[in-house]
Formats: sequence, C-alpha cells, structure tokens
Amino acid sequence: MENLGGKYNGAMQQRAGRRVVLFPVPLEGHISPMLQLANILYSRGFCITIIHTCFNSPNYSKHTNFTFHSIPDGLLESEASTADIIAFLALLNANCATPFRDCLAKLLSDSSEEPVACMITDAIWHFTQAVADSFKLPRIVLRTSNVSSFLAFGSLLLMQEKGYLPIQESRLEAPWTDHPPLKFKDIPVINTRNPEVFYRVLSDMLKETKVSSGIIWNSLEDLEQSELISFGQDFPIPVFPIGPLHRYFPASSSSLLTQDQSCLSWLNTQARRSVLYASFGSLAAFDGSQFAEIAWGLANSKQPFLWVVRPGLVRGSEWLEALPTGFLEAINGRGHIVTWAPQQEVLAHPATGGFWSHNGWNSTLESICEGVPMICLPNCGDQLVNARYVSHVWKIGIHLENRLERGEIEKAIRRLLLGTEGREMRDRIMDLKEKVHLSLRHGGSSYQALDSLISHISSF
Ligand code: UDX
Repeated sequence: MENLGGKYNGAMQQRAGRRVVLFPVPLEGHISPMLQLANILYSRGFCITIIHTCFNSPNYSKHTNFTFHSIPDGLLESEASTADIIAFLALLNANCATPFRDCLAKLLSDSSEEPVACMITDAIWHFTQAVADSFKLPRIVLRTSNVSSFLAFGSLLLMQEKGYLPIQESRLEAPWTDHPPLKFKDIPVINTRNPEVFYRVLSDMLKETKVSSGIIWNSLEDLEQSELISFGQDFPIPVFPIGPLHRYFPASSSSLLTQDQSCLSWLNTQARRSVLYASFGSLAAFDGSQFAEIAWGLANSKQPFLWVVRPGLVRGSEWLEALPTGFLEAINGRGHIVTWAPQQEVLAHPATGGFWSHNGWNSTLESICEGVPMICLPNCGDQLVNARYVSHVWKIGIHLENRLERGEIEKAIRRLLLGTEGREMRDRIMDLKEKVHLSLRHGGSSYQALDSLISHISSF
C-alpha cells in the first residue's frame, strides 16, 4: 500500500484554517471513495466535515479526525431499500434537499468553525449545485466511477432523446459506433420501475456537473487518457483524475458491512494463485436459478474458491437456502463462503489467482491494483462498460457475456486459472498495476492531479 497521503502535521496549520464539507451518497461503492478522499484532504491540511444521511450512516469511531453531521433522509421503512436503485436515488435527492440546505446554513453561520472553502458532493447529488449557488459556495463533484461510463451515460441520454431506445434485440451485438469497442448491449441502462425517472436522474447529474467548479475522478489519466480528452470537450470544468483513491492509505475499513476475516486464514491454507475469488458487490442480485448456475459452475471447475454471498444476493432468500442440493458434498471442502470479505486484502493475498466480479468500478480498480485478472459478469449501469474495457481494451479478463450457464462458467474459471490465456492476462494486468503505481508516485499523473486539486481548493 502506498501511504502517499502522509500524515497531517503542524506545518500545514495554515491550510487547516480552511474546511471542506463533503456529502457522500450512502451506498458502499460511493461512501468508501468519499471517505478515502476525505482522508487525503485531511492529510493535506484541510479540516473535514461530513454531512450524511441517517440511512447507512458512517461509523464515526473509524474517522475520529472528521466532524460529522447527520441529516434526516425522510425514508420510510418501506423505502429504505436499494432493490430499485434509481427510485431510491431519486427519492433521496428529493428528500434531502431541505435538510441539507438547513445543515449547511448552520455550518456556514457558525463563526467558531473554520471558514468553508468549498463543498465536495457525489455527482448523483444533483440538487446540491443549486444549494451551493445559493450560498455562493463552490461545489466540486466527486464521480466515484470512471470517465468512459460517464460518457456512455451522456450518449445514452442523447439516444433516448432521439427515440433510439430501447435497442432491438437483433441489434444488441452490433457495435455502438459512438463508443468503440462498446456494443449496443453495453449501453449502461439500469432497470427501474419507471424509466423516465432514470433518464431524469441521469440528465440532472450531467447538467449539474457541467456547471460545477470541477470534477474529481476515482480514475487516472494513464487508464483513460482519450476519454478524459472527450470529457473536456463537453464539460469545460477543471478535471482532477486523482485515483485510485483507495491506494493513498493502507486498506481502511470504511466498509459499511462487517468483513469476515476468516477469509484470510482460509486463504493462508491454499496454494499460490490457485483460488478464484467470487464477489458481486453490494447491490447486484440474482434469482434462484442464476444462483444455482453460479454454484454449479464453481463446483464443477474443481478449483478452490472464496465466494461472497451477501444477504440479499439471491432474491427472496435470506442467505444460503438457495444453494442447490448436493452442492456442499460436491465441493468437498474446496470452497469458503462468507457474507462479506475484506476484499482488498483478499485480492492482495498470494493465494488469489482470479476475481469473478460484477465489475463495479471500485472492484475493477482494486483488482487492477493487485494485478488479479478477472471474469466479468456485469449486472447493470457502468458495470457493462467496465466489463467491456476489462475484456476488450485492457484485455485483463474473460467476459461471460452470453449465458449464465454452469458449463460456460466452469470453462471460464479453468481458462483463467489454468490456461495460457489466463497467464497472458495476468502479465497484462501486472503491467497495468505498475502504471497505476507510478501514477501515484512523485511526478505521476494522479500525483500531479492531486496537487492541482489542492491548489484549486486553496484558491477559493
Ligand atoms: C456500485 C455500483 O454497482 C458500481 O457499478 C459503481 O461503480 C459504484 O457503486 P457496488 O456494486 O457495490 O457499487 O460495486 P463496487 O464499485 O465494486 O464497490 C464494492 C465495494 O465493496 C468495493 O470497494 C469492495 O472492496 C467492497 N467489498 C465488496 C467488500 O469490502 N467486501 C466484499 O465482500 C465485497
């Protein structure tokens, strides 16, 4: 781990006279990068205030250097569910506007606090731009995923406006010529009860990002150079690709769920690079028959595996009830199943040979940073774009893009862990890992972008 942020010390006291207010979206894949950013800014001498919703409230005791303010999110018990993520995010944006404004007003009028230089809010919190404007406070956006998927979201909206969506079934394999090498089937749609709400959330996110005082990417120039250029043509705002955020400090546990440390002692008993780690992030869900195919694919591959089965991963099941009969006998102790893993440590473990992932951006970046090649099973949204980049641009993963079927899964696992193809992917991802490592060192692209960000905030 890099520990590049350094530690706050007295020499930085001058800058510590300024405060930055951060507002994360309360989801695992969003809150962790925001807290990592907060740590980085604190290490550069800024005081940190985090405004957060009651839903998925962060654990204060893990971040004793920050000041926290909780705001009511107005969610009824029946609404506090991420099953329809778009409906959930739209509701949060509506419910939080007034409480956020009130909280900020109090903070800004409190003369015992350091003056606020700016606020940094997740791109999804589109309402915060109007609040920032009304207080004449600069707002910088944090986009926790990558540039390519953001651009794809923009094109998706244009296609919707022109009436090109949905794409006919027969054209799904055709290239999406606006975004090579994406195919039409990689258009980052997210299923929701009311698609109009999806397009509105997207459109508001893009519109309010365009008029913000800058954007921080949890990505880096060495990975997305041409995408950053394209972004700059449409969004004339300062850009800070300072990622990967999780590499600045040793693996921190900002995870909202409790990580089962037994994974690491189990991995200690396994041979080098022999284990497939399978985990599909904090939101993806499968139905019972898909879950059974995954289970049999893992079992029939005859390779050791560490599998994260999050409560909620199988629709309608509490936890492992949906495991097919005969599965545990078939694996004969070759697998270890947990509800949540210390993912970064698992990926860094010498026994881990491959990562079967849904390609959430955090998981994808973490895998690149540890040099672990992937099997891609994207679920929705940006994951579809990330998976295509992993398999067809960086060529560091096998895309399971046809059928979720046990035979296909078994073949992919064996190709990745035992075949020449898997070794070549490992070589390529090790090169990428090195590039990322260098980008964070003195003079590297992320290092320089962070310096620019610090100057930018200091200039307010
Ligand atoms: C969501 C979206 O799905 C994703 O596409 C988007 O880029 C960010 O928001 P999520 O699905 O949870 O996030 O995936 P991902 O971005 O990969 O984030 C998951 C995080 O949970 C990772 O940081 C990972 O390290 C952590 N994790 C996952 C654990 O700590 N333990 C686990 O067992 C699994």
